[in-house]
Amino acid sequence: MPETPPDVLIPESAIQSRVSELARQISADYQAAGELLLIGVLRGSFIFLADLCRRLTAPARVEFIALSTYGDQTTTDGQVRMVMDLRTEVRGVHVLVVEDILDTGHTLDFLLEHLRARDPASLKSCVLVRKPARARVELAPDYLGFDIPDVWVVGYGLDCAGRLRNLPYIGVMPVAAG
Ligand code: IMP
Ligand code: MG
Repeated sequence: MPETPPDVLIPESAIQSRVSELARQISADYQAAGELLLIGVLRGSFIFLADLCRRLTAPARVEFIALSTYGDQTTTDGQVRMVMDLRTEVRGVHVLVVEDILDTGHTLDFLLEHLRARDPASLKSCVLVRKPARARVELAPDYLGFDIPDVWVVGYGLDCAGRLRNLPYIGVMPVAAG
């Protein structure tokens, strides 16, 4: 039986214009800094990062890091594990972490601490969506796409058990009964 697609929370056009605005802002802010290193958090950020980096006018390199948060699925207990670390030095480099979503904040908090210890020239974060109602860590992203309600979102890189990352919009997963 074909599944009904998730309801639209943020349409493709709204994502695209917000990503353009973020890219303009980031380009302006880093104009004087020289080269920027974008660090994408796998796997959720790959589409956001791909769109964002193509709209930057500031020179940028791209690296990836992979993290996993225990408690997978729709809950997280705050235990973050490094699955794939960076292959490059960040000492003296202007680093911008690109994340898909800020839920409790444990993942981004862990990553920023991990990178800060390596002495970058500067360290900022750019997050596409945030669920303010779920915040457990005091952490404000330097650049933010959208605040959303406490729902499970999919699409534009975000998944549900590995699926639906390739939806062009951000949709809401219905809450499973039981
Ligand atoms: P944290 O709670 O901020 O540490 O987020 C943990 C991770 O859970 C995020 O990096 C996402 O991979 C995932 N996550 C949290 N909420 C959602 C959601 O609504 N959709 C898809 N992934 C999510
Ligand atoms: Mg993630």
